[in-house]
Amino acid sequence: MTFYVTTPIYYANSLPHLGHLYTMIVADTIARSKRQKGIETYFLTGTDEHGINIERAAQKAGRTPKEQADYVVSYYKKMTAAFGLDTAHGGYDIFMRTTEPFHYQGVSELWRRCAKAKTPKGNEAIYKGHYEGWFCAACAEYKTEDEYRKPATEGAPPTCLIHDTELDRISEDSYFFRLSDYGEALLAIYENQPDFVRPDSRRNEVMSFVRGGLQDLAISRLKTSVSWGVPVPDDPDHTMYVWFDALINYITAIGFGNEERQKAVGFEKFWPALHLVGKDILRFHAVYWPAFLLAGGVQLPKAIVAHGMWLDPNGRKMSKTLGNTIELDVLEKHFPVDAIRYFCLREMVFGQDGRFGYEGLIDRTNSDLANGLGNLSSRTLKMISLYCDGRIPTRHISEDKILLAKRSGVDTDETTVSGFIELAREQYLQQFESLNFSRALEVAWSVVARIDGIISDAKPWNLAKDDEQKQTLAAVLYRSAEALRWLSVLLFPVMPQACQEIWTQLGLSGSPGSIEPGQLTWGQLEEAKAIGEVRPIFPRIDKNKIMSEINNETEPSAARATVADAVEGAPGKTETQAPPPTQHATEADAVGVTSFIEIGDFAKVDLRVGQVLSAERIPKADKLLLLKIDVGEEQPRQVLAGIAEYYEPEKLIDRKVVVVANLKPRKLRGYESQGMVVAASIGEEGRPVIATFTEEVPNGARLK
Ligand code: MSP
Repeated sequence: MTFYVTTPIYYANSLPHLGHLYTMIVADTIARSKRQKGIETYFLTGTDEHGINIERAAQKAGRTPKEQADYVVSYYKKMTAAFGLDTAHGGYDIFMRTTEPFHYQGVSELWRRCAKAKTPKGNEAIYKGHYEGWFCAACAEYKTEDEYRKPATEGAPPTCLIHDTELDRISEDSYFFRLSDYGEALLAIYENQPDFVRPDSRRNEVMSFVRGGLQDLAISRLKTSVSWGVPVPDDPDHTMYVWFDALINYITAIGFGNEERQKAVGFEKFWPALHLVGKDILRFHAVYWPAFLLAGGVQLPKAIVAHGMWLDPNGRKMSKTLGNTIELDVLEKHFPVDAIRYFCLREMVFGQDGRFGYEGLIDRTNSDLANGLGNLSSRTLKMISLYCDGRIPTRHISEDKILLAKRSGVDTDETTVSGFIELAREQYLQQFESLNFSRALEVAWSVVARIDGIISDAKPWNLAKDDEQKQTLAAVLYRSAEALRWLSVLLFPVMPQACQEIWTQLGLSGSPGSIEPGQLTWGQLEEAKAIGEVRPIFPRIDKNKIMSEINNETEPSAARATVADAVEGAPGKTETQAPPPTQHATEADAVGVTSFIEIGDFAKVDLRVGQVLSAERIPKADKLLLLKIDVGEEQPRQVLAGIAEYYEPEKLIDRKVVVVANLKPRKLRGYESQGMVVAASIGEEGRPVIATFTEEVPNGARLK
């Protein structure tokens, strides 16, 4: 039996972040669980290196496209090694690159086959035509009218709904794939193989998309527009559409169209694959890819499994543009790899979106790993060292001691605990098999809680004081150690390093990674064997310390200065000694790139629409007004504004204003100011002019 699992191959235009790492972690976990069962497994990840997007990124960076790809790939390799996902650490079997010559060969082979093929309706699968329309370089996707935002000014190009970037107008000769002829064939597949697209909610989405009617797909670009791509066989004026080339990587990697790869890996041996993808690229995998394979006469993949996306702690999409991505360097520096793996699998209900924040990661690591599994392991092993001479204690309580054991509150029937753990194993494996990692881990942690409970109830430290209770003590610690052996086998695919560590500390040789979890039998932990050296598995993370380190590393100080300056400057120069205002954007242009802020820095400022409910002067402070502003929250905000010399309080009532809502509250003249009103500053004296709206806006609406 063999098994083949793939991640998407990632665009080689930019460096990876947590989102990319996530799919690799899931694939790695699945691959390890298969290998653990003795199944020969092939795990593919890699990079998608062609197309206009990479060409442009390279140009921007002053590199050739290949140099750009090499640069990104070297980072990927460094990171996958650091996260234990590469071949040397038992992770992927191939880091696939679409610039490999064998890939060119395989892709050309499939193109040729499609070019000769007839569609289910008897037409040519590939034909030459003219493409007229819009294309998003970042999505590498042609966009129809309902997939883009119309421009605000006439004549400007529309923008991508996902990336917010301008689309490219394309009007050129192109080869087309006759996708419109494949709708029925695809629907039949989804219906006959309900597991082909998973989970069900995604399958339904795909089906309704296909039922809505498919349009033919342009699968080439003129070489003069996109030169960085695989040449179309027998027509060198065209390069292949990057998705056509990219999807085929899954089969060229294992030998389709190339003898050498075929010998080294084996297409027949491993195909069909389980494809893991983010829901963002499901359509390509569940619609286009099977259609290409049908045309080429190649067997379809086993399944396409779409996972949700990681959002930031506020529920916003993670993106480079927003600057709220979780960077791999930061993760690597501050967190154990296994804690990251555990968090990813525990926190995201597979298929749904999840939220990822450093604080959440620290909390979970501390509660589930440091206090949970890690603590169970270290307390058990320490007590074995202390009370049992560092040897695995004896399991059975002799007849004459049973009553005593019962009196101390210990369940003398060992099958209670072994039955519990056997049932948990079944549930765990079942959930795991259905890729419900989060549920599976909950089940595993019910074992941790149960064993913890057994120890706390039995109080081994008291039993140790009584010679008559030696056997009871031994039995309790044996159960705990045996449960740990089981847990290290079950959890190995999720946390390979930590489980290996627990295994070794239990005094076991070899690896839990080669024990089939279904074969675990209670009581096989050998008595009297010496345990290993006891070391902490998951040290507790000092949240304050790590968070302040992370904040210092991730928040550019320039951004903080910008916000602070704006804040201090506004309420009136007499109240605080404001530092000089920062450069305006136009000046920044002249001073150079270092003065720019990222869009993500801007996104940190929470600007809200507010409405002034009341405004009054403050005694002895001629420049300040005390405002009550409704910013759409339960209570209005109290905000001080240094505008009293220029605005009559009455005239401000009901006025819509812009409020900096996430400004640290501070006291001025004994009043707390919970935000700041945004105003332009005019002339030498800095006359404030309050920013407002000319259209209807609800209170609390966010400015972006
Ligand atoms: N190159 C294409 C894929 C071609 S496959 C034949 C591509 N690349 S990508 O670099 O944009 O990577 C997309 C994939 O990265 C997603 O499908 C998902 O697997 C992963 N993720 C990127 N951001 C993510 C999140 N925020 N959350 C979870 N996964 C995310 O599309």
